[in-house]
Amino acid sequence: MLYSAIRKMMFQFDPEAIHNFTIKGLHVTGNSPLKVVYTQTVQDKPVEVMGIRFPNPVGLSAGLDKNGECIQAFAAMGFGFVEIGTITPRPQPGNPKPRIFRLEEANAVINRMGFNNKGVDYLVEQVRKANFKGILGINIGKNKDTPEENAKDDYIHCMRKVYDYASYITVNISSPNTPGLRSLQYGEALNELLAALKVEQKSLAEQYGKYVPVAVKIAPDLTQEEVEGIADCLKANDIDAVIATNTTLARDKVAHLPHGDEQGGLSGAPVKEQSTIVIKQLAQALAGQLPIIGVGGIQSVEDAKEKLAAGASLVQVYTGFIYEGPKLVKDIVDAL
Ligand SMILES: Cc1cc2nc3c(=O)[nH]c(=O)nc-3n(C[C@H](O)[C@H](O)[C@H](O)COP(=O)(O)O)c2cc1C
Repeated sequence: MLYSAIRKMMFQFDPEAIHNFTIKGLHVTGNSPLKVVYTQTVQDKPVEVMGIRFPNPVGLSAGLDKNGECIQAFAAMGFGFVEIGTITPRPQPGNPKPRIFRLEEANAVINRMGFNNKGVDYLVEQVRKANFKGILGINIGKNKDTPEENAKDDYIHCMRKVYDYASYITVNISSPNTPGLRSLQYGEALNELLAALKVEQKSLAEQYGKYVPVAVKIAPDLTQEEVEGIADCLKANDIDAVIATNTTLARDKVAHLPHGDEQGGLSGAPVKEQSTIVIKQLAQALAGQLPIIGVGGIQSVEDAKEKLAAGASLVQVYTGFIYEGPKLVKDIVDAL
């Protein structure tokens, strides 16, 4: 069946209800012969980033498979890497519903999920069961009720738990739906956090006899000066990669649309331009010292090429994948 027909059917339902239904379906079928329904073969287009060989540069962005329940299913769709999470130390329910809204006219979504997840122990169990041999990113965050001054402890807790299972670990300091999280992107707060994570990474590398790279995921809502500040701090702390960007708080492109004024993070087409601007600013400030993973509004081959041209070495998709389906992955990989 064409994805456009599937999408039409899915879009009849409440976004979160159909999301949960789909995740359950992918979870059950991901390790069974039924996965043939959504399996697609994409060409090998290997790239080496962070010392890891990625079979192709198109990944699934964090937040779609928060608990790591569908790793095999997403890998079967041809993604070169799958990023699961954001996961927090303890399970938490997230914000009250409704908390996810489609803005179809704009090919966009607004969400204020608030890191609803089943906790890091549950995720690790899923990863163990999946026995996945591909490239797996694990995205970590802090619990909502952990005071900001203790945020570091939550990241370290998650890092220790996932270290042995991740190809790379993403430190998410850019979700707009956890109060205070984005303040970790600035100045001494950022420096302290990254320095502590680097110490932990070194000690875990010794303990496990392997080096797992750490990436930091940032927001699109930053001035050039702020982006440069982040870039300096990433370099100074020897961080392995930066993921740009998360969702935006800006509403200028959607304020006139139904749901356009909902609180939360806006993703999809309206964030594309700002995300690319941040990537360009990062590329200039980092001068090749660490790689950039580009994400935000990729809905076509051209969009992906734009991110790569701006300075990204890998790309990720979320909202474009919801609107376009698995074919988007194949189209991009084939075209590169
Ligand atoms: C419903 C939803 C939930 C998300 N949850 C997370 C999350 O838990 N952690 C994270 O780092 N990013 C999360 N994101 C952000 C995406 O990973 C991505 O960075 C952002 O949506 C921009 O890419 P896109 O335009 O392709 O969606 C979420 C996005 C959406 C739409």
